[in-house]
This record gives sequence, C-alpha cells and structure tokens, in this order.
Amino acid sequence: MTSAHPEPLQLPLPYPVYCRAGVRQTIGEIARLVAPSHRVAVISDSAVAPLHADAIVAQFPADSTRLFTVPPGEQVKTRATWAELTDALLEWGAGRDTTVIAVGGGVVGDLAGFVASTFMRGLPVVQVPTTLLAMVDASVGGKTAVDTPFGKNLVGAFHNPAAVVIDPEVLNTLPEDVLRSGFAEMIKHGVIADAPYFDAVLRYAHAVRDHGASAPDFAATITTLVIGSVRIKAEVVAEDTREGGLRQILNFGHTIAHAVERVLNFTLLHGDAVAIGMVAEARIAESIGLAREGLSLAIADAVERAGLPSRLPATIPLDDIIAATHGDKKAREGSARYALPRSIGEMEAAEGKWSVAVSNAVVKTALS
Ligand SMILES: NC(=O)c1ccc[n+]([C@@H]2O[C@H](COP(=O)([O-])OP(=O)(O)OC[C@H]3O[C@@H](n4cnc5c(N)ncnc54)[C@H](O)[C@@H]3O)[C@@H](O)[C@H]2O)c1
Ligand SMILES: [Zn+2]
Repeated sequence: MTSAHPEPLQLPLPYPVYCRAGVRQTIGEIARLVAPSHRVAVISDSAVAPLHADAIVAQFPADSTRLFTVPPGEQVKTRATWAELTDALLEWGAGRDTTVIAVGGGVVGDLAGFVASTFMRGLPVVQVPTTLLAMVDASVGGKTAVDTPFGKNLVGAFHNPAAVVIDPEVLNTLPEDVLRSGFAEMIKHGVIADAPYFDAVLRYAHAVRDHGASAPDFAATITTLVIGSVRIKAEVVAEDTREGGLRQILNFGHTIAHAVERVLNFTLLHGDAVAIGMVAEARIAESIGLAREGLSLAIADAVERAGLPSRLPATIPLDDIIAATHGDKKAREGSARYALPRSIGEMEAAEGKWSVAVSNAVVKTALS
C-alpha cells in the first residue's frame, strides 16, 4: 500500500474526485481523510466483490468493517434491496458514525448512495466506480435512486458523495460489452457540451470496440477521456445541483433510453439504451427544426464506432415506447420533455428550461 497522498482533480465540486491508476490502494487513507468514522460498510455486488471490494475492505480494521453484497444487475436496484441493506446495517449495529463505501457500477453506486442518503438521515458515502459508465457519469453529481415498476430512478435523493475515487485499472476486469456501453455517456458529454471532446472520444472508440481494455495505450487514453467527461459533468452539476435547469442537458438521449429500458424490462445495458436514445432524440431535434439534418447521422456514426446500437430493436412496438416515455419523471402535463441538441457541443436552452415538450406524433415519426 502506498502512503503518498493522492491529489484530487481541480473541479468545481464540493467534494474531491481522485482519478489515477492505482489510487484504489489508498481508499482507506482517503476515507479517513474525508469521512472519518467508527465503522465502515462496504457495499458491492457479488461479481465485483472478489475482484475489487475485498481488497478495499482489507484497508480498514477488520472488527469495524463489513462487506455487504447484492446480486449483480439492474434488477436489484429496488426498494426491496434498499430495505434488505438497511436492515442488514441495523442488524450489524451501524449507526451515524458509519461511512459507506460503494464499490461497483452505477447500480451499486445508486443503490448504496440511496442507502447512505436515508440511513439515520444520512451517512457519508465514498463512491468507487468500477465500470466506465459509473466513472464518467453515475459516480459524480450526487444523484441516488432505486427503480420502481413505474420507471427507473423514481424514488431517490440528492446526496453528494464525500469523495469519488476512480481507478481506471479496475476496467481491465470489465466484460467488453459493459466497457463499450460506457462510451455512450462519453459521447453524450461531447454532444451536450464539448465538440473537441466528442472528436477525442470518436478517435478512440473503434480501438476499444475492437480490442477492449487491450486497445493500444488504453490506460493513459482512457484516463484522459474519463477526466474529460468528469470535468464536463462537474461543470454542469456545479451550475445546477438539483436539476432546476441546465442539468436537464445530461438527460439527452435518456427520455427514449429510459422508455426502451422499461419496455425491455431492464435487460438492455443502460449505455446501449442511451446510444439508441441519443440517435432517436437527435432525429426529433432535426424534425422540429432545432438541429440541422445530419446531426443524428453524426451521432449514429459515433455510437456505431463504439460498437453500440444506433436503432431500436425492430421487435419493439413504437406505441409501447411512446407510452413508456410518459412514465418518465421528466414528463409534465401528459407530454414528454426532451433535452435536445442544436449541434455537437450545443444544447437547446429553451429559455432556461433546457428541455422541450414534444408531441407523441413527432416522436413516433422520428422513431419510425
Ligand atoms: N446517478 C447517476 O447520475 C447515474 C448516471 C448514469 C447512470 N446511472 C445508473 O447506473 C446504472 C448503470 O450502471 P452500469 O452500467 O455501471 O451497470 P452495473 O452497475 O449493472 O454494472 C454492469 C455489470 O458489470 C459488472 N462489473 C462492474 N464493475 C466491474 C469490474 N470492474 N469488473 C468486472 N465486472 C464488473 C457488474 O457486476 C454488472 O454485472 C443504471 O442503473 C443507471 O440508472 C446513474
Ligand atoms: Zn445515463
């Protein structure tokens, strides 16, 4: 274990974000710094635990540290699992002097974050994302939630982490389809805010599509790209922590993505659904005259280079998608709202609302 003090990134956030190969070996030290506590509850899933969480547990005193695991997959991001975890914490004797460490993908981060936000009215949580998607998106910003039969993330809380610790080395154990799906949110960050970043993601996407974590120069390139994405996300959430306006732009691609995920019963990877959603929503932006023709093609090209799907599976009835967009929490007064791009790097401000109501007929035409 190294004892060199890691340096956080310079970001406009009220908590430190560390991103460096090997930094996971100093999580014990970081947690003692940002959230000193009597007990440490490490929450992970059963696939990630033996790969990465056990080594983190070992950095804390054995008698005051416990590992809690859930099965892997979106299906566990529920109120039922939240109840099981909070019961297990109570049974163990966890109190307000407990720090939660979330080690896993976005599912574990959202679930453990929601447990931390509610347990005894709020415990500190250190987010240790282990998927690319969680590194570039879910771990930063303080949103926590569980899914319900009515839709994704409908019960949750804003709860900033005490720190985020990103170690790109853990991506080496990630299944290649899960690694690729992280590129969807990176492409999204380029579209919503930063054309040069979009190009940088594009240049590397096909290498990861073809070679996964064995792509040339993976460690250095992915670290640079992760930091680029975290910076974009941090700048957006710093302006609008509770999604009153600007933060809506992070939902680009997500109104359709959440509907697709729901119709497919959460069997699709979130990033794959976001890839489909971005192309569809760019087409909506073109069809209502916000974006020039060609934007949706450029985005489709980017997601295909990353090895992600660019169109809806033909088996899904469009009416099911339309119906599911109305269960989305951004839906108001019966019409679904969309955060829409004008061009790569620029979103429609909609007079400060940053999202636009779009009629079902327009959505259906854009999807068909
Ligand atoms: N809070 C937010 O702001 C936010 C933002 C984006 C997404 N999300 C949420 O994130 C979730 C999706 O996250 P995800 O794509 O990370 O999926 P995930 O958490 O389900 O992880 C995908 C799979 O990878 C496995 N895994 C994770 N890390 C691994 C590693 N290093 N090595 C080997 N296997 C590993 C997991 O066990 C799981 O089977 C969704 O629920 C989504 O709503 C939240
Ligand atoms: Zn997302």
